[in-house]
Order: sequence, then C-alpha cells, then structure tokens
Amino acid sequence: EPSFRCQSSRKSAIQAATQLADINWDSIGFGLVSTDYMYIAKSLKDGEFSEGELHRFGPIQLSPSAGILNYGQGLFEGLKAYQREDGSILLFRPEENALRMRLGAERMCMPSPTVEHFVDAVKKVVVANKCWIPPSGKGSLYIRPLLMGTGTVLGLAPAPEYTFLIFVSPVGNYFKEGLAPINLIVENEFHRAIPGGTGGVKTVGNYAAVLKAQSTAKAKGYSDVLYLDSIHKKYLEEVSSCNVFVVKDNVISTPAINGTILPGITRKSVIEVARTQGFLVEERLVTVDELLDADEVFCTGTAVVVSPVGSITYLGKRVEYGKNAVSCVSGLLYNVLTSLQMGLSEDPLGWTVI
Ligand code: COI
Repeated sequence: EPSFRCQSSRKSAIQAATQLADINWDSIGFGLVSTDYMYIAKSLKDGEFSEGELHRFGPIQLSPSAGILNYGQGLFEGLKAYQREDGSILLFRPEENALRMRLGAERMCMPSPTVEHFVDAVKKVVVANKCWIPPSGKGSLYIRPLLMGTGTVLGLAPAPEYTFLIFVSPVGNYFKEGLAPINLIVENEFHRAIPGGTGGVKTVGNYAAVLKAQSTAKAKGYSDVLYLDSIHKKYLEEVSSCNVFVVKDNVISTPAINGTILPGITRKSVIEVARTQGFLVEERLVTVDELLDADEVFCTGTAVVVSPVGSITYLGKRVEYGKNAVSCVSGLLYNVLTSLQMGLSEDPLGWTVI
C-alpha cells in the first residue's frame, strides 16, 4: 500500500491534511510527483456514471483486452489548481474542461460524466490532495482527468465499460527553459492531424503520434515541434502540446479552430484577455511565411501557460524573435492571465472557482 507522504496518520480524505508535503517547491518541473489520492468513477449500463470515490493513488487493474489498450479509446484533460496565500484554492474554468471532454467523448464513441459531476470530482480530488498544492507563487497542482474504455473488446468496437479517473501532481514550468523563450522547429514531413480526424479532441492517440517528431527535434536541441496542415503544408496548426500565436504590428493572429486544432482553454482565455487589453485578435488561417515575418511568436496551453518563442527553424532557416524588443505581448498576457488564475486580480468574468 502506498503510504501517505504528507499525512502523519491515516486521516480520511475529507480531513485532508493542512501541512505541506515535504518536497522542494523551488525545484519542481513538469514530471509526476505521486500524491495521496485519485478519483475513480465507472460507467453504468445506461451511459451514466457511478458517483465515484477517492482511492489511494496507485496502479489500476486493466484487462489486457481493455478498449483503451487495444484501440486507443480514451481522452484526457488538463487543468490546474492554484493555492492563494490565505490557503483557499482556485480552479480555472473547470467547466470548460468538462465540456471539452463531453465533446471529445462524443467523437470517440464514449459516454461522459456531466459537467457537474466532472467539476465536483475535480474539487474532491484537489481538496483531498491539498497538501500537494504548491504554496502561492511556487507552481500549481496539475489535474489530469482521464476517460477511457476499460471494458474488454477483441473485435474493433466501442468498449462496453468506461472509467473516469482523475489524478493530480504538483508542477512548475513545463519547458526546461522555464519562462525563457523556447526554440521550435517546423515539421515538414509528419503531421499531427488530418481533416475529419481527431485532431480537435483530446484523445490520447493524438499525443502518441507526435512523439517521434518531438524526440527527433529534442535530440537536435529544439524545445518542441510546430506542425503544419497536412493538405497545403503551409498553414500553422499547433505545437505538440500547445496552441500557437503570432504577433505582427500589434495584431495577434492564431489558427482558427477547424477540426484539426485542439480548442485550448488557455487559447480561448488568452484571446479574450488580449481583446480586453485592446489588441486586435484574428482567428484565421496563418501561413508559415507570416510566422517567419512575425514580430513575436508565443504558445499557450494549460501546461505551458503562455510561453514566448525565441526562434523558429523552418527548412534549415532559423528566425529569431524578440531581439529588437519590437513587442512583448506574451509577457503582458502571461501576467494578466496568471494574476487572474492565482487570484491576485479581479475576476470580472467569473472564470475562477474556489
Ligand atoms: C495541457 O496543457 O494540459 C496538455 O494537455 C498538454 C499535455 C501534452 C501536457
């Protein structure tokens, strides 16, 4: 049995410990730190889900013929909880993740928890793992909901049973560069998604498909890969794990959501924040030529937050950004967004949930 690493005795999850886990909060990156509890609910016959409960974090049992293992019938989500100085905990737009999971489940032929169930389960697992939420300013608790076909199949078909599971891990910065600009390479051979495919939902297979190009790029010293559309090979899609934005003459542009691009919640929030800050934001086809000619490029995602891009390499040509300090739109957007998420500024749109 895994031991509770931040609870001196076996208290129930409801009596979650108030002391902090004994880890160095200054050195957390984006790797799994095992916490105390995970949440599990099972699908019922009518497509609804059981109420679900907290379990100690640890391995789960799966049949080798589970749908997720054989045919990749699964989705994941990602959201974060922040701890404020007064000890209260904030979630950022969790109902958006719930809705996205429901849309993805429909595409992947799976039943899904209701928005209310999803948000309630997220709250339960976060409160139960309260001692793993980094102190204010040191990071966040990354929340990873999974929805997967755990019933058995052999012939290709939707699984007969599903599991909704949530685990959490304290995290710091996603890229090893920290908050410093990242270096991307534009991929010219492999594509992330095709029209009519599953690029627009958060199915696990989308992420397995980009590992090859990502590993090759990392071996060459790049931070990650930027994908182009698979038909014309000239329009920007997204980076392996985040959305992309280009800035030219103070106009911010990002690829429109068209079925092949993941509808990021940070993407959507950054667009709204930027418009509130007076920027013109365009969602449209953005060409690789515009990328190379941009004043500034940045990425957005739950994990990466708002990450500035320092350079892009395309067909052997490297373009650097930010050298002339033409603009620092990403820095401004990062500050406005994270102040909101951490509860340091007013929340006029009611995006945060205590
Ligand atoms: C997130 O930003 O939460 C994601 O799901 C991306 C993942 C590859 C870390």
